[in-house]
Amino acid sequence: MEYSFLKIESKDGICIMKVSAPKSLNALNSTILKEIDDFVSNLDKSVRVLIITGDGEKAFVAGADIAEMANLNEQQGYEFSKLGALAFRRIETLEIPVIAAVNGFCLGGGCELAMACDIRIASNKAKFGQPEVGLGITPGFSGTYRLAKLVGQGYAKEMIFTGKVIKADEALRIGLVNAVYEPEELMDKAMEMAQTIKEKAPLALQYAKECINESYDLYADGAIEMENKDFGRCFATEDQKEGMAAFLEKRKPNFVGK
Ligand code: HXC
Repeated sequence: MEYSFLKIESKDGICIMKVSAPKSLNALNSTILKEIDDFVSNLDKSVRVLIITGDGEKAFVAGADIAEMANLNEQQGYEFSKLGALAFRRIETLEIPVIAAVNGFCLGGGCELAMACDIRIASNKAKFGQPEVGLGITPGFSGTYRLAKLVGQGYAKEMIFTGKVIKADEALRIGLVNAVYEPEELMDKAMEMAQTIKEKAPLALQYAKECINESYDLYADGAIEMENKDFGRCFATEDQKEGMAAFLEKRKPNFVGK
């Protein structure tokens, strides 16, 4: 498959997948989600470590594509969440380690993509957040599930309920990322980590990842499906229409709870 929104570089067993939609700060539309799904489903067996990053200097991924989501109905909202949730679950359950190199805005669906990776490192310019409730929707792509697992319920709820955007040092403090670097160092550090991992035994890595995921994932499928449904339900509300219209019209939303 030819990719319109992914840039792929692969060398000596380390592959870099860049999400590239510069006009919308790499926001994830359904075509990109399908491309990611296709790419990770058909990853060459010679790849031993995958690095995921964003194209350009400003964003890792600034979320799911609000312009595409704005007019979805409940069923379409559910399907959109499911599309990304399945693709991201494939990343999480890939046989090989996956590193997210977070180079800029990492919001909503972007944070959800990073959290589906095994390890996250970030540039000191990166900013993280789950701004969805400000758009009248819940997080999707399994963000409610993974964020709470990663940083604990209390901080996950604060981030999701307030929609606040946190800097890389705060993401480091709460355990959302493992390390923070100067922007120009980020990819070298990701490559260094990938190289270290690549020298280890592939099957031992695969089994270790499976073991860690197994206990962590105990309720994954139920939690992910519940979130897909609740995400879809938001699209039957006036607040979702208002929230997304407000973003596109560059104004503050006025939510009424309907
Ligand atoms: C569509 C987006 C976008 C997005 C940015 N753009 N984020 N388009 N979907 N998520 C577009 C802008 O509309 C703008 O287009 C261009 O990218 C540049 O963005 P600006 O806003 O002009 O840049 P800046 O002022 O620097 O602000 C950067 C920003 C802001 C803080 C990241 O763009 C922003 O708040 N974006 C939305 C972030 C967000 O709410 N993400 C969560 C989405 S919901 P134009 O045409 O004006 O140049 C989500 C749900 C996931 O992710 C679950 C789904 C199941």
